Amino acid sequence: MRVALLTGGGDCPGLNAAIRAVARPALAAHHTVLGIPNGWAGLIGHGEINELTRRAVSGILAVGGTMLGSSRTNPMKIEGGREQVRANLERFGVDVLVTIGGDDTLSVAAWLAEQGTAVVGVPKTMDNDLSATDYCIGFDSAVAIVTEALDRLHTTAASHHRVMVVEVMGRDTGWVAVMGGLAGGADMIVIPEFPVSVAEVVDHLEARREQGSDFSIIVVSEGVEMEGLGRKDEEGIARDAFGHVQLGRRGVGERLASLIEGRTGLETRATVLGHTQRGGSPTAYDRIWATRVGDAAFRLAVEGAAGMMPVVRGGTVETARIADVVREQRRVPRELYELAQVFY
Ligand code: F6P
Repeated sequence: MRVALLTGGGDCPGLNAAIRAVARPALAAHHTVLGIPNGWAGLIGHGEINELTRRAVSGILAVGGTMLGSSRTNPMKIEGGREQVRANLERFGVDVLVTIGGDDTLSVAAWLAEQGTAVVGVPKTMDNDLSATDYCIGFDSAVAIVTEALDRLHTTAASHHRVMVVEVMGRDTGWVAVMGGLAGGADMIVIPEFPVSVAEVVDHLEARREQGSDFSIIVVSEGVEMEGLGRKDEEGIARDAFGHVQLGRRGVGERLASLIEGRTGLETRATVLGHTQRGGSPTAYDRIWATRVGDAAFRLAVEGAAGMMPVVRGGTVETARIADVVREQRRVPRELYELAQVFY
């Protein structure tokens, strides 16, 4: 069998662990393993494909990023893109395609499955916002980086008696902010799911000051909407190839920091964690789950379970339809947000 692999969308730690987990059992069972470079871009035009040897997929477990490269190229938005993807898969003799990605990459996979292409998915996104799965590769590493940053910011905030605003990624959901904020002891977490006004942020900071807390750490999600921070779909903000606003360019962290300083007189600084949240070595948790879902994806591929993907539910690997995983965004539940509020 010829098993091809691609990684699409934003990279993150754990992708190589998943590639290894698909490729190693496949090679051990004498299948041919092929790598498509740079996500769907590798299947556009004449396309490109490279054979992956056992040697090529060794020594990559602990390495961040993706050895295959990635892109946000969307074949559905390119004239003739869908036909090129299907033609290239046929020309390369691919029996089954394993797509490792988030909602954008997997929505193309779901469409391919509808057309009868043998495709299997693997859940990956540091945003952790796919439905039907409790976990996505890259999320735990991102949360670990946010946690470490908050620990570091605590000591400097305390020394200077400052307010620290920490902007984190996560697109339209607040998973990274709420989990990172819980682990790092944030004094307030502002996420898209539960909007607050600048006045509420200011009141909270003033209440903390009255109670004797002379510094505060506020975690803000890049995707929040709040008066004074501009709308998400504001004119003039660049979009990526999938059509999403590049939220990092809104600068919500800096904007919120200057609103706070202006209204409270408290010295305030902003830190934007940006792509550090997607860089470096995966945590043990990401390596283990990437290995488990990667191996399960290989097994689904050889069983001919086209249009399916492994997901994590209740601490174990289950199987779901790709179409169901991308159907809606998984949002932070109220109880988690309220738990974080207990420690404000
Ligand atoms: O979807 C993952 C993610 O890291 C988002 O949290 C963030 O908004 C976006 O990607 C950034 O994308 P890019 O790397 O293309 O700037």
